[in-house]
Amino acid sequence: MRLYVIGGDGQVARSLREAAALQPDIVYGYGARPLVDLQDPSSLENAIGNFKPDLVINPAAYTAVDKAEAEPDQAFAINRDGARSIARITAKLGIPIIQLSTDYVFDGNKQGAYVESDPVAPQGIYGRSKLEGEIAVGQANPKHIVLRTSWVYAPFGSNFVRTMLRLSAERDRLRVVDDQHGCPTYAPDIANAILAIGRIWGDSGWNSRFAGVTHLAGPEVMTWCDFARAIIAGAALHGGRTIPVDPITTSEYPTPASRPLNSQLSTARLNSLFGVHLPPVKTSLGDCLDRLLRQEA
Ligand SMILES: NC(=O)c1ccc[n+]([C@@H]2O[C@H](COP(=O)([O-])OP(=O)(O)OC[C@H]3O[C@@H](n4cnc5c(N)ncnc54)[C@H](OP(=O)(O)O)[C@@H]3O)[C@@H](O)[C@H]2O)c1
Repeated sequence: MRLYVIGGDGQVARSLREAAALQPDIVYGYGARPLVDLQDPSSLENAIGNFKPDLVINPAAYTAVDKAEAEPDQAFAINRDGARSIARITAKLGIPIIQLSTDYVFDGNKQGAYVESDPVAPQGIYGRSKLEGEIAVGQANPKHIVLRTSWVYAPFGSNFVRTMLRLSAERDRLRVVDDQHGCPTYAPDIANAILAIGRIWGDSGWNSRFAGVTHLAGPEVMTWCDFARAIIAGAALHGGRTIPVDPITTSEYPTPASRPLNSQLSTARLNSLFGVHLPPVKTSLGDCLDRLLRQEA
């Protein structure tokens, strides 16, 4: 199977590269800035055309949720127009695209887990640009899978786990938002899930039932404060400091972009359609902390 991925060192892109390296029958190619840029359709066309993939995966995105409020043109150019360009190119080649998207397409007012058919109502520019990217991909290539994920973390890149480890080394107590609920999702788990999904159609061919949106998120719902406490407790097993984490409300931690209070994603479709189940947070966070704290040791 020949896979081509847009993005070099993003959390999901790098995890895909690492996971694919362990599967000898996957021929992996990727394009990253400055050579391959979502804002430059011809760079995408050349890179994808030259590689001749069976499948293209797009985890690259404008992901700065707060900064997007001040840079909407940039966010839409990358998240909507860039995604549309890849979908058009793959459609011309007759191959499928997997597009990554986000829980921030929802307003967070639902009680319980969001399913794929729930109404969308993004609260900020980032969520709107990703939603318009989902729609553009669906319109441009019938062979598309949009995977909405949430609260992504990895042993590298910019994420909540690394921020909490840094802050817990600098401060004697932390104050963390305790009224936003979501599902932390480990980027290497996302990568393994994507490869498993790709393998299904690699083995049996594209099936139109695959098309559309599927939620791909960790199996446990928690608040940022719960997650921070799990990170501090996990780091303590590696000799990290144990410090108190105090719960605060979203209104006590104002940000330029508002975030959904509930972004729990149901993975029932992922489980039944693709037979993919993500590991519990204890396993994935444990692996992340092992990798991070071994690096520091
Ligand atoms: N992070 C989260 O918590 C989260 C939550 C829900 C959904 N998602 C979605 O999941 C996907 C993967 O997220 P992630 O956490 O892996 O993102 P990330 O770590 O922020 O990486 C984003 C990647 O996109 C690349 N990129 C940005 N603009 C580009 C452009 N114009 N052309 C080519 N590449 C460009 C960046 O490249 P450079 O290295 O050149 O900057 C970077 O490698 C994204 O679609 C995101 O919207 C993420």
